[in-house]
Amino acid sequence: MIKALTIGTVHLPNNLICAPMAGITDTVFRALARVGGCALCYTEMVSANGLTRGAYATARYLEHLPGDRPLGVQLFGAEPEMLADAAAIAVGRGADVIDVNMGCPVKKVVKAGAGAALLRSPRKVETILRNVRNAVPVPLTVKIRAGWTGDEINAMTIARIAQECGADAVTIHPRTAAQGFRGHADWDLIGRVKAHVDIPVIGNGDIHTPEDALRMMTRTGCDGVMIGRAALGRPWLFQKIIEYSTTEITTHDPTPAEREEAISRHLNMSMNWYGEKQGVVRFRKHLLWYTRGLRGGARFRQAILALTDAGHLLEEVHDFFHPPGQTSTQ
Ligand SMILES: Cc1cc2nc3c(=O)[nH]c(=O)nc-3n(C[C@H](O)[C@H](O)[C@H](O)COP(=O)(O)O)c2cc1C
Repeated sequence: MIKALTIGTVHLPNNLICAPMAGITDTVFRALARVGGCALCYTEMVSANGLTRGAYATARYLEHLPGDRPLGVQLFGAEPEMLADAAAIAVGRGADVIDVNMGCPVKKVVKAGAGAALLRSPRKVETILRNVRNAVPVPLTVKIRAGWTGDEINAMTIARIAQECGADAVTIHPRTAAQGFRGHADWDLIGRVKAHVDIPVIGNGDIHTPEDALRMMTRTGCDGVMIGRAALGRPWLFQKIIEYSTTEITTHDPTPAEREEAISRHLNMSMNWYGEKQGVVRFRKHLLWYTRGLRGGARFRQAILALTDAGHLLEEVHDFFHPPGQTSTQ
């Protein structure tokens, strides 16, 4: 059921949340997700080390458009005091919610003892969360995986620790760190975590369609759902979920004209935010997702890979959706 969700002092009109995704969930992507009705968006994971050292590139992840609220800032790190300091800096720069990453399985991150590596150290989890909790007045969330490996599934224990340390919600992506993105997300574990804690539980993993989102809520009893990969090139997915939850009718996929309009809006926002050149370069990967699975998409993607001029890019997009010589029926 789509319903309002309260995380600490932040009241959300619905329980649809956009996942933090490195290299993707910048303020432009978040703004588009919000247009579709997504109630809470997170930045990509931000290094606590970089933020506390004042690294310019790190601080840029926190920049956001005025309407990009409530804004969740996700931090990663292994040092409790550093994470607490970084959280305070993030709140000073507009974070409405602080999230601590305890799920990232990327080698560089876990080697430093951060991300999913923390799942192996419940005591450290506790120290980190108590430090961060004391450092900021805004809601605190934690994003976890099922556990380190299939033999070390401990999401329920970690979620309970999070609750005891004052976290306001926990997000669970029920794959192990060892799994990466292989296999399936074990939705039943979301249900078990939900039954184990009193704070809101946000379910995440393998939601591809509006039906999936509603199914996860019904099957697990989770309080909200977080969507990542399925929103790539489909910022309208959040809107579709809201529509489906009231009508139970899956609305049609966007027409070519609607897709072209979405693409052009995304590109324009990207150029407004980053400047023309950077805006085009950063947008190109999104264009690959917008045309994923469409007929002729592979050829089109090859053609646009090297384009740096917005006008040329939009011409290619127009020709792709309205092939010359073909009359559009849309
Ligand atoms: C490209 C990419 C980048 C990601 N970056 C982050 C990140 O910065 N922080 C994080 O907690 N999870 C990150 N994730 C994991 C997602 O937030 C999410 O947990 C995962 O994709 C499962 O959800 P999904 O099946 O809806 O995609 C990333 C995933 C992808 C595909």
